[in-house]
Amino acid sequence: MRVLILSRNPALYSTNSLAVAARRKGHHVRILDHVNCDLIVDNHKNIVLYNGEHIKGYDVVIPRIGTSVTSYGSMVVRHFESMGIFSTLSSDALLKTRDKLSCLQILSNAYLPVPKTAITNNYYSFSNIVRYVGKFPVIIKLLQGTHGLGVIKADNYKISESIMEAFFKTKQKVLLQEFISESAGEDVRAFVVGNKVVAAMMRKAKPGEFRSNLHRGATSKKLQLTDEEENVALKAAKTMGLNIAGVDILRSSRGPLIMEVNASPGLEGIETTTKVNIAKEIIEFTERSYKKSSEVE
Ligand SMILES: Nc1ncnc2c1ncn2[C@@H]1O[C@H](COP(=O)(O)OP(=O)(O)O)[C@@H](O)[C@H]1O
Ligand SMILES: [Mg+2]
Repeated sequence: MRVLILSRNPALYSTNSLAVAARRKGHHVRILDHVNCDLIVDNHKNIVLYNGEHIKGYDVVIPRIGTSVTSYGSMVVRHFESMGIFSTLSSDALLKTRDKLSCLQILSNAYLPVPKTAITNNYYSFSNIVRYVGKFPVIIKLLQGTHGLGVIKADNYKISESIMEAFFKTKQKVLLQEFISESAGEDVRAFVVGNKVVAAMMRKAKPGEFRSNLHRGATSKKLQLTDEEENVALKAAKTMGLNIAGVDILRSSRGPLIMEVNASPGLEGIETTTKVNIAKEIIEFTERSYKKSSEVE
């Protein structure tokens, strides 16, 4: 196969692992920075230009799109799709998952368990939505945050009101969410490739911290998922239209709750923790999908 990886930086762990895994299997690999792809729309002859070069002859695209460039990244992915090239991540699924609210709305609609979450466009409605979310503390989070940045625990009404006030003042959209105290600073990351959970880990927040992001200093260990967690993770990825997904689950007293689904989940933390070669799993999945898509043609 001729493989295109879309990534801002070839030196990133995940990008490099995918390139190495693909080359090991004899595939030709090229890494393009999606931000520098120019897109020409022309009557069934759509073209991608890269520093003026016409990019052609590739079989599959593996997008690694960071949260800061979701919008342009999705345009680039859609362009490759329009050219009939199989992408491991669809532009639709990318857009659906990137906004935390849209992700939770879709999951909840599919009868998947999520924490109670609310949003308002009016500051004065805060008192109306807060009682639906439950007791204090509550979680306030940015709609498009990442690495735990912009996720705040507010201990009482007064503090949460002040935080909401500040976000409204700066025109930032935030979610209000019930705090799952039983999870005690731990969350579960299930890594889905195709129709399989290929690896799972438990992340534990550092002392004095409730956010279990590795970027916030959390520790991690390999985990055997319960059947219920595995089913929820697989159904969540499928519902969001993702072939490759990092599904984050909180263990609550009423069972697993899906906190978020990541469309470009990082490989470093989970490969290091579980010793599973996830890049290889992704390349093998890509090979199978490419084979299937060429048989259809
Ligand atoms: N509702 C919640 N209850 C308890 N802990 C939460 C809740 N929401 C988030 N957290 C903690 O904060 C971390 C970051 O939240 P998350 O929504 O995943 O944002 P990000 O996209 O920045 O990772 C989670 O990994 C979890 O440890
Ligand atoms: Mg997260």
